[in-house]
Amino acid sequence: MLKNVNPSRTNAWQNLRKHFADMEFVQMQKLFESNADRAEQMHINWGSLLLDYSKNKITTETIEYLVDLAKEVDLGYAIESMFCGKKINVTENRAVLHTALRDFSDDGSTIEVDGVDVLKEVRATRDKMKDFTEAVLNGSYVSSSGEKFTDIINIGIGGSDLGPKMVVEALVNYRNDLNIHYISNVDDDYLFATLRKLDPKKTLVLIVSKTFTTQETIANAHHIVKWLNLDKEALSQHLVGITANVPKAISFGVKESNIFPMWDYVGGRFSLWSSVGLSIALAIGYDNFEKLLKGAYEMDQHFRKTSFEQNIPVVLALLSIWYNNFYGYETEAVVPYSELLNKLPAHLQQMIMESNGKDKNREGYPVNYQTGTLIWGEVGVSAQHAFFQLFHQGTKVVPVDFIGFVKPFYNCEHNHDILMSNFFGQSEALLNGKRGEVFEEGEIEMLKNFRDFEGNKPSNTILVDKLTPESLGSLIALYEHKTFVQGIIWNIFSFDQFGVEYGKVLAKNIQNEIKTKNIANHDASTSFLLNYYLNK
Ligand code: F6P
Repeated sequence: MLKNVNPSRTNAWQNLRKHFADMEFVQMQKLFESNADRAEQMHINWGSLLLDYSKNKITTETIEYLVDLAKEVDLGYAIESMFCGKKINVTENRAVLHTALRDFSDDGSTIEVDGVDVLKEVRATRDKMKDFTEAVLNGSYVSSSGEKFTDIINIGIGGSDLGPKMVVEALVNYRNDLNIHYISNVDDDYLFATLRKLDPKKTLVLIVSKTFTTQETIANAHHIVKWLNLDKEALSQHLVGITANVPKAISFGVKESNIFPMWDYVGGRFSLWSSVGLSIALAIGYDNFEKLLKGAYEMDQHFRKTSFEQNIPVVLALLSIWYNNFYGYETEAVVPYSELLNKLPAHLQQMIMESNGKDKNREGYPVNYQTGTLIWGEVGVSAQHAFFQLFHQGTKVVPVDFIGFVKPFYNCEHNHDILMSNFFGQSEALLNGKRGEVFEEGEIEMLKNFRDFEGNKPSNTILVDKLTPESLGSLIALYEHKTFVQGIIWNIFSFDQFGVEYGKVLAKNIQNEIKTKNIANHDASTSFLLNYYLNK
């Protein structure tokens, strides 16, 4: 099982504390001046992905202490435990095996959980996804009226929505003609605006819910079934269930052959690699979906086999811990310089904050240090015209991950060079700042103070050759592993989400009160609001 080590009591943490006293007010500009090889020493080049982490408030000593911390909490053992299928999700008594979903090893190795050969069931499901995807795309699986499907609706929320939606948008240049629509919120205005454009006779509906009980998803599914307006048999031709709760899906009207499994050992926010990704496979074709998986598999191999100093997810996790737990920087921004990645920050928010938003250690006691960071972001260049002002001249420090691509999809490099000039320029400006100047003669001297920015703001640069299914797979897996490493070091359980689940219970209770117009005992504010809502 995972060890219970309070990170703040390790030798490495004490060393980091002392070291922080020397580093707190360090000027990165000076670190660059005194070491011409800094960028050479502080980057990792891995296949088509480069990480430059030299623009951080670190020295080689910092990295040594951080790596010591990872070793003292036995990160290596934790990584192996995850990959081998040990039940490291202790609070739910489950293994954590999203990595098995993209396992393409051919050495005959197996992963067993409760006597079940996981790789066997994963591979069988991939085959089923392939067959189904190809049948829909080549028109051998048709609608109840014998027509080729033109539109797919994916109903799901959280992990059953965010990952696939993000990937399908990111890989728009790999898309076929099928239109894909995502319905997650219980929002009739949005639902009907979507349905208005569609022909029920040519629409296939994927109901994605691990539990098949999530209120929002089931409510939307009921609405859409009504809209399809078909008899039982015809309806079943238009429904696909992606779930761990087969009986519920069947009683909803999904035929058994159209049910794709979800498993206990895959958390919602890590599930886009499973049949939850069926909408991805339909949108970009199964072969491209498999390339996405293979990109993630490559990152898995890197994460599992590379020394911590050269390990991209480990280094990023350690830097984040350095800022979160020593500098006290509470938030981190992710800024992809690709419009197509505009949903990446939202996906990472769920992945990271639902995983590491925990205040109890692995023994169930309150932690005495900060855990999960706040993640936010937006695509560059747009972000520059929105919140970058605060990065440059605000009083808060927000470490940034800049993500960019060397080559655009289409060879129209003019615009891409403009985009990437901004990409390079921003991290440079954050590092170096600028001394204020008086622009025009006669301008008051004091104005230059407002044009002064100090720089010394940390960032990582992740530069990828090109946005492809493979590179996207690697990028997402990178952040999954970063999240894992942080959870291990903070000595928390990253794979449950009891906080969110409580929200689901509350909503159900209140819904009942609204329906019966019988408001139960709440705090004064909630009672006041409910009464206001009911009497309006
Ligand atoms: O948001 C909480 C959560 O439990 C997520 O972890 C999950 O992805 C989502 O709800 C949806 O749950 P389900 O797939 O069971 O409908």
